Amino acid sequence: MARKLAAGNWKMNGLEAALSELDTIAAAIGADDMPEVAICPPFTLVAAAAERAKGNLAIGGQDCHAEAAGAHTGDVSAEMLKDAGATYVILGHSERRQDHGETDADVAAKVQAAWDAELSVILCCGESLAQREADETLDVVRRQLDGSIPEGATAENLVVAYEPIWAIGTGRVAEPPQIAEVHDAMRAALRERFGDETGKAIRLLYGGSVKAGNAAEIFATSNVDGALVGGASLKAGDFLPIVEALG
Ligand code: G3P
Repeated sequence: MARKLAAGNWKMNGLEAALSELDTIAAAIGADDMPEVAICPPFTLVAAAAERAKGNLAIGGQDCHAEAAGAHTGDVSAEMLKDAGATYVILGHSERRQDHGETDADVAAKVQAAWDAELSVILCCGESLAQREADETLDVVRRQLDGSIPEGATAENLVVAYEPIWAIGTGRVAEPPQIAEVHDAMRAALRERFGDETGKAIRLLYGGSVKAGNAAEIFATSNVDGALVGGASLKAGDFLPIVEALG
């Protein structure tokens, strides 16, 4: 099983001064037996963040275009992220699906582009509150996984993050049995599609209001290999206790 992963998604937060948080994180996670840590700052900080990242600290983007280059004003390609020093990219986040109308097919094309540029993908999936209340959670997540992951997934090029939309930025965290039900189903789907060995080794993260106070309970849940953290990843003082809970 690959090392556990604590990933931070800074979303549209962070100016140059925020990079000092990375120095604190990099210094704290020096030891090889610590979990892997990836921070995904906004595009504007990726290159500077990658220069400061050391050892166990990886840097990622939060999106990329499906094409390698071309007339796409304002977009960034996977190769550009790689060139700037990123090794990860978050794709299919619910905020991209909602704000930019990204479909599973769009996300799958971006995943392929990221793999072509040798980036590892943190692929997000998760249901809305209405879908959960209609008892559609497992169907929605299954459909997103089937539609957003192209052939060729490996434990090195793919991490899957389950982020129930109703738990993102709301302070309302999913209960461990709710997380376990979805993570167990995702594990089964990945084993079925990519074979036992690969399906077991692809890391599954939980995301949605993870913080120091609830991290240990979440990490003790079935098939949880780490977390994708939003708000609590912005300050090293909030994020490092989550990393420690994972280690
Ligand atoms: O990608 C991370 C995310 O959507 C969770 O955000 O602020 O609830 O930890 P937050």
